[in-house]
Amino acid sequence: MREIKRILVVGAVGQIGSELTLALRDKYGADNVVAAGRKTKPSSELRDSGPFTWCDVVDRQKLDETIKQFSIDTIVNMAAILSATGEKNPQACWEVNVTGLINTLEAARDHDLVQVLCPSSIAVFGPGTPDDAPQETVLKPTTMYGVTKVTGELLCDYYVRRFGVDARGLRYPGIISAETLPGGGTTDYAVEIYYKAIEEGRYTCFVKEDTRLPMMYMPDCIKATMDLMAAPFDKLKHHGDFNVGAMSMSAGELAAEIKRHIPDFEVTYEPDFRQDIADSWPSSVIDSAARTEWGWEPAYDLAKMTEDMLKRLRARHERGELYQAGA
Ligand code: SER
Repeated sequence: MREIKRILVVGAVGQIGSELTLALRDKYGADNVVAAGRKTKPSSELRDSGPFTWCDVVDRQKLDETIKQFSIDTIVNMAAILSATGEKNPQACWEVNVTGLINTLEAARDHDLVQVLCPSSIAVFGPGTPDDAPQETVLKPTTMYGVTKVTGELLCDYYVRRFGVDARGLRYPGIISAETLPGGGTTDYAVEIYYKAIEEGRYTCFVKEDTRLPMMYMPDCIKATMDLMAAPFDKLKHHGDFNVGAMSMSAGELAAEIKRHIPDFEVTYEPDFRQDIADSWPSSVIDSAARTEWGWEPAYDLAKMTEDMLKRLRARHERGELYQAGA
């Protein structure tokens, strides 16, 4: 496997991209990780800790120019429209998630890139998938986001087989973090609940109390992504579709864990259209392929994550940052 030297992170201003870019800069050198946004203003930390540029992954010409300008050899494609927003605008979801990925994969061929990483999601699963989702299973999603992610997994695997592109991806569960908010996902309640617990002491949750989904804390998400990127290619039997599990809890269990720290915290449940999406996904995933092929092992469970989330959000609240964040 050739060495990764200069990485372009597209979608770098988003929930995962913003923290992943900083972690990649630590590992590969600040100047070697170029953050690319589309329109949201980057945080000063993201903008000032290394190169920043604007690049819409749907614009192939701009992507080519960016690759040349910064001598990029690896693309991490974090640009995506998530499940709830995708249902409001399915065409835009296809355009960003699929055209953006094809652009990335074609750029990998044309510029002989070392590697392309494009995440998938638990949204590839559907009502026909077993509730503890195996690695190999029925992929019949009911959302456009899920359709684009199944397509993305198949495209990655196709480009590996047909063109020898080193394309990799993992099926993220709901990602919980204390820095950048997620936007337009079904699992967003699991992030909002922490913000509201700190800011207002109450939260109205948009899925039912017994809704159980796979979740992961951001440090584990970063570790999973970077470990998969660093894994020797010849050890991988899968490519674009690794299940990665960390924890699985119902909305009620999540609320109960927060109440252990904030006893007066009140949660009510008012399910909206996202309930159907949540109900179409499994409660947990079987991630033995990731564990065997590249040594995946999560570090955070619900208790450990909650302690850390509340500590970080309290500190941000005291600095007056949270209302600004808009949760
Ligand atoms: N967090 C995503 C969503 O809810 C799932 O990958 O859409």
